This record gives sequence, C-alpha cells and structure tokens, in this order.
Amino acid sequence: MANLDQNNPFLMACQRKTTSYTPIWLMRQAGRYMKEYRALRKKYSFLEMCKNPQLAAEVTLQPIHQIRVDAAIIFADILLPLEPMGIELEFAKDEGPVFHHPIREMKQIEKLRIIDPEGDLPFLMEAIRLVRKELDGKIPLLGFSGAPFTLASYIIEGGHSKNYILTKGMMYQNPQAWDRLMEKLSEVLIRYLNAQIRSGVQAVQLFDSWVGCLSPTDYERYVLPHSKRVIDGVDRTVPLIHFGTTTSTLLEGMKKAGGDVIGVDWRVDLGEAWSRIGYDVAIQGNLDPVVLLSSIDVIKEEAKRILDRAGNRPGHIFNLGHGILPDTPVENVVALVDMVHEYSSRLRAKG
Ligand code: CP3
Repeated sequence: MANLDQNNPFLMACQRKTTSYTPIWLMRQAGRYMKEYRALRKKYSFLEMCKNPQLAAEVTLQPIHQIRVDAAIIFADILLPLEPMGIELEFAKDEGPVFHHPIREMKQIEKLRIIDPEGDLPFLMEAIRLVRKELDGKIPLLGFSGAPFTLASYIIEGGHSKNYILTKGMMYQNPQAWDRLMEKLSEVLIRYLNAQIRSGVQAVQLFDSWVGCLSPTDYERYVLPHSKRVIDGVDRTVPLIHFGTTTSTLLEGMKKAGGDVIGVDWRVDLGEAWSRIGYDVAIQGNLDPVVLLSSIDVIKEEAKRILDRAGNRPGHIFNLGHGILPDTPVENVVALVDMVHEYSSRLRAKG
C-alpha cells in the first residue's frame, strides 16, 4: 500500500485488526448540512464543484476540520463516469439527477464508450492528489463508485425510480441487453476505481444504493456476477467496502460478490447481520441518519446500542446506514463522532 500509515484505525478496522477505538466516518460527510458547503453552492453548481479540483478538495476537507472523523471521502459523485461514456447528465434543481436520453436498447448500449479515467476525468484525479497532500498522512482518503446495478437503474430509468419497472423490464425481457450493459458498466468501474487508487485513494467504497429492490434470486442471477467482476478487478492492495441499502435479504449474496467490509443500513440489526455474513469480513454501519436530527441523549443511546451490538469485535467501522440528511445540525454530528470514540475506547479498555 502506497504511503500508508499502517496504524491508522480506519485501515486497521478494514483488515479486522484490533484498534484502540472504533473508527467512524459518515457517508455524505461533505454536503448541504454544512454552512461552508452551502456558501460555495451559492456560487457554483454541484457539477462545477465536482469538476474543479481546488473546490472539490476544499469541500472534501470541510468536515475534516470540524468533525474528528477517521477518514475523508473525495468529493465527487457516482454518476460522474457516465458522462464520458456518452450519457448526458443534468442535476436539475430540487429534482436530483436527470438523464434526458435514457439507455433502453442494445443499439444505445453498443455505442457507450469505455472511458479512460485519467484522460476523461482529470479533475477527479487532481482533486485526489490535492487532498492527499493536504491530509499529509493524518487520515486516509476514500475513493468510490456506484455499483453496476445502481448505475444501470439511473441510466435506464432516466433518474431516480420508485418501482424500477424499466430496469427490471430490461432484466426480464431483454437479458442479453442487460448483461451487455452491466458488462460495459463493470469495465468502466474497474478502470474508474483503479485510476482513483493510482491517484492516491487508500480505500474504496462501492455504492449499490438501490440494489435492495431486488429479490435474492434476481440479485444472484442479474447482479452478483457483475459486482463480483468489479470487485475482483479492483487493485486490492487497498480495502474495498461493499455497501447497499434495504439489503437485509441480500447480505449473503453481497458477501459472495466480495469486499473486505460489508456496509449495512439501519433496517438490520448490526450484530445479527455480522453473524449472518460471518466474522471473516469487517462490517460498516449503521445509525439511522434521522437519529442525528434528534437530541444528543437519543443519539448517544443509539450509538451505544450499535457499538454494543458490534460486541467489541475488531472490524467494525461506525457509519450511518445511509448519507447525512441536509437538515442535520453540525453539533450533533460532532457529538456523535466524539461519543463513538469515547465509548468504544472504554469498551476496549474493559476488554
Ligand atoms: O459522501 C461524501 O461526502 C462524498 C460525496 C458523495 C456525493 N454523492 C456528493 C453529492 C458521494 C459518496 C455520493 C454518492 C452518491 N451519489 C450516491 C450513493 C450514495 C447514496 O446516497 O445512496 C448516489 C445514489 C448519488 C447520486 C446523487 N447525487 C443523487 C441522487 C443526488 C441528488 C440528491 C441529493 O442528495 O442531493 C446527488 C447530488 C449530490 N451528490 C450532492 C452531494 C453533496 C448534493 C448536491 C447539491 O445540491 O449540493
């Protein structure tokens, strides 16, 4: 591993090594709940910020200065590699991502470009180098991508979806097109993640945010082989976190697809999830992000409950079950991080 502090608690926990406290970082730790972020967003669009390495680096570091998290995550988006594949992307105001020309037929799939990440997304690689320099080895930097299913669902539906009718429609009615699309996305994601690793990220997370809409049988047939191909194709000298939401029935399948760490949301009991997937992988999660909108006392109780469920076993990385919500008070996030550090240190001392 390039230039890594091997005693870093986050990286050690990814490898299920004993740490003196439970490391914590938070999905969407950079974003709209921070006033510094909102101030920048008045001047720039989200995509402008992603594509400007100085701004992306600045936003990545905003939470690091205020919240004592154990890892940084590069400011970017899972949808960024789709643009150079030839899929036009827009972040519409109050609507989220929109694809005006959704991909639904083999003809369109054949035309999708396999990207050259360093050439097509140089801003991201530069942002990674800038952040690594600023962090100066103090905490590790995570890179990330979407998983093939979650990205396929966006480009087939044209945006966020409720019932995934068109996505499942392609799976069931045109499996050849489905497999071709998933193969192309997988190839792109392998390149995209490996380029981030070459640029300096010290761990990666694969976001399969919407895969929980599938049955276990469909997951095994239509998704698992592709996610596995991505995970097997990524340079595994850095740890990989495999995350999804509403995945309580898919956890065994996700483990089969791979990952050093499995990320779970709050809908499952963390202790039960870990015993099901097995202690030969690490686990990340799983506070309900809505808890952070509650009182400090409630936040502490919930965080303790999760740490107790992890049972003081090495290999737990504390996180939310999904991203921080925009209305979250920053002081609650600070309190959560400090509390996880303090309470888990005490658990370790007790043994
Ligand atoms: O975690 C981090 O702090 C790193 C940055 C990050 C963003 N997106 C920035 C962002 C990460 C890891 C993501 C991942 C992402 N993007 C996912 C997977 C995680 C998840 O939430 O399930 C998904 C599905 C996306 C796609 C996406 N990007 C959506 C649906 C939206 C709009 C909805 C929303 O939350 O605003 C975005 C925009 C986006 N990505 C914002 C940020 C900070 C908000 C942009 C803004 O309006 O300022």
